Amino acid sequence: MAGSDVLILEADQLLTLERADGGGRPAGPRRGAEMSPVGLRTGEALAILDGRVAGVGEPGALRARWPAARAERWAGCVLAPGFVDSHTHAIFGRWRVEEFELRARGADTMQIHAAGGGIAASVRDLRGLCEDELVERTRPRLRRMLEHGTTTVEIKSGYGLSLEDELRMLRAIRRLASEGPLEVVATFLGAHAVPPEFAGRRADFVNAVVEEMIPRVAEGGLAEFCDVFVEPGVFTAEDGERILTAARGHGLGAKVHADEFEWGGGAELAVRVGAASADHLGAVSDEGIEALAASQTVATLLPGTLFFVGKQRFAPARRLVEAGAAVALATDFNPGTSPTTNMQMMMSLAVARMGMTPAEAFVAATANGAAALRRVAGEGTLVVGAPADVVAFAVSDYRHVAYRYGENHCVAVWKRGVRVV
Ligand code: NIG
Ligand code: FE
Repeated sequence: MAGSDVLILEADQLLTLERADGGGRPAGPRRGAEMSPVGLRTGEALAILDGRVAGVGEPGALRARWPAARAERWAGCVLAPGFVDSHTHAIFGRWRVEEFELRARGADTMQIHAAGGGIAASVRDLRGLCEDELVERTRPRLRRMLEHGTTTVEIKSGYGLSLEDELRMLRAIRRLASEGPLEVVATFLGAHAVPPEFAGRRADFVNAVVEEMIPRVAEGGLAEFCDVFVEPGVFTAEDGERILTAARGHGLGAKVHADEFEWGGGAELAVRVGAASADHLGAVSDEGIEALAASQTVATLLPGTLFFVGKQRFAPARRLVEAGAAVALATDFNPGTSPTTNMQMMMSLAVARMGMTPAEAFVAATANGAAALRRVAGEGTLVVGAPADVVAFAVSDYRHVAYRYGENHCVAVWKRGVRVV
């Protein structure tokens, strides 16, 4: 469709996120030193045809090759692949600002959770909302994500915690996915907390997740991944292993909320079950770091959460990268511990608080986010053939996106070649 074919000219910088070796290697997470090259091009143009990246290179050559494509000039901007936010809880009912205030007065997040607030508060709330209401509430949040440069998002269930409530959440996610333009990947997080009706009977609830919920979720084709909150006081690594093994038997990929606040063996479990990602890792062990470095499991860091709940300690991003792990960044967008849709801010935290370089932060927020969702068609990059999910930032140096923190530098977004912001 030539009408949407476009040549993007005069951008100050273009980040292709291609691999330094020219991209000839199989797709997969970028680890260790592979996280540094961002494929920085200056004075080059980007050709988008039929929703895909058709060429990157010398402007005159691209114009000669695609004379019918419409030319757009983006001087003063940096062009980059859209963010892949690979970990969110974007479907929920009401916001939980009261917990924000409680923490300021000294409460701790896991105490709030143990006292029936936190996740349980969102569960009570969500159980009273129908599918239409869930869709209506979530749609504007996805729009905010898009406006901040996210073009693919993962959304978890996990505020339902009963078969019917979880299925309703996943159906709402499916509807949002079909609406577009944001691309949505669904994850079943039935084991997010033990619901009140199973209080004191955790093992029975794990049985319900394994025997009742996973088969129905898989049968309905309602999720691509299954996730478990492995944390002292929530679910054990053994619970997680049972759930994720069952999930794999039903064709679902695995993800783990691993060692978020305290060590619970989550990273080790993620590697053992071949999970696509181990997420959070605020309290990951040395063994966990080694195991991740030697695996295909992406270490997805969510610095917004530890920042927002007031922790001084962040996940050991520098050590993970240096050990050779593949690090991704995501928002963990949720009403309790990370109420933000802004991936640019995650990059700022990664650089300012976790010792990642601006280049590593870009790789983590794009190509490695795609790897954490097991996307293998060039998502999170602008290499030839990749989906044309492109963002323009109103800065002249890509490092400014993370550096000038807390602001939205995104001024245009193309999803599959179509301008959506
Ligand atoms: O990733 N850790 C568990 N889940 C979320 C918190 C969700 C909530 O507080 O509602 C997290 O931090
Ligand atoms: Fe989370």
